[in-house]
Amino acid sequence: MKKITINDLIKWKQEGRKFATSTAYDASFAQLFESQNMPVLLVGDSLGMVLQGRPDTLPVTVEEMAYHTRCVRAGSPNCLLMADMPFMSYATPAQACENAAKLMQAGANMVKIEGGEWLVDTIKMLTERAVPVCAHLGLTPQSVNIFGGYKVQGRDQEKADKMVKDALALQEAGAQIILLECVPSSLAKRITEVLDVPVIGIGAGNETDGQILVMHDMFGISATYMPKFSKNFLAETGDMQSAVAKYIEQVQDATFPDEAHTIA
Ligand code: KIV
Repeated sequence: MKKITINDLIKWKQEGRKFATSTAYDASFAQLFESQNMPVLLVGDSLGMVLQGRPDTLPVTVEEMAYHTRCVRAGSPNCLLMADMPFMSYATPAQACENAAKLMQAGANMVKIEGGEWLVDTIKMLTERAVPVCAHLGLTPQSVNIFGGYKVQGRDQEKADKMVKDALALQEAGAQIILLECVPSSLAKRITEVLDVPVIGIGAGNETDGQILVMHDMFGISATYMPKFSKNFLAETGDMQSAVAKYIEQVQDATFPDEAHTIA
């Protein structure tokens, strides 16, 4: 696989070519994903749940994120690698800069932060200092205690309009990717159409520019809970390489997510 940059993703958006992405946490899986031409990987703070067995992502530290980012980069030299900034590591723009530097020096090409318009100054500060940003909207798992659980976001008109406004403000501030989690597909479509930057969805229907899955869900090995919008591609194919290839193929031809895996 050739080295993937943000310019490839922008070009694909302009051409209407959909792309698949996945979380990854170690070198072996990163290598497997790269061998199947997965262009983008995310070292998600979901590692707190799927690797560490915690009830949510809040306990994850910057040092843990940097460690797993180094592991994934070692296995996938060519993917565009995003790394999550964990809970409270970007509470102020200055903190964000200090902690983002650790993830970039561990091999990330971009950091991901959760939140809306309040992140504008942080995004400006990071991008002016050469740290590319993906902004995560919708069900932002670090806010689980504010939401009172993992719930679909943006269902009513007022909240949907606010999310569109947030997405535009984040793009204007310099965010180069917007990630939408657990929002109605009609809202994800609206945001994807209104933005120039690529939009990646999870539980957001099949009209975003890209899709992402937590890799444990893609392989059906999440111990306790499988979200309705996820699909076990390993059950359908029988081996991990074919499961990854099938996921990529179904994202590219927009057959995943289908209606059964979409939030109306
Ligand atoms: O941490 C993570 O894995 C994520 C994905 C759910 C997008 O943020």
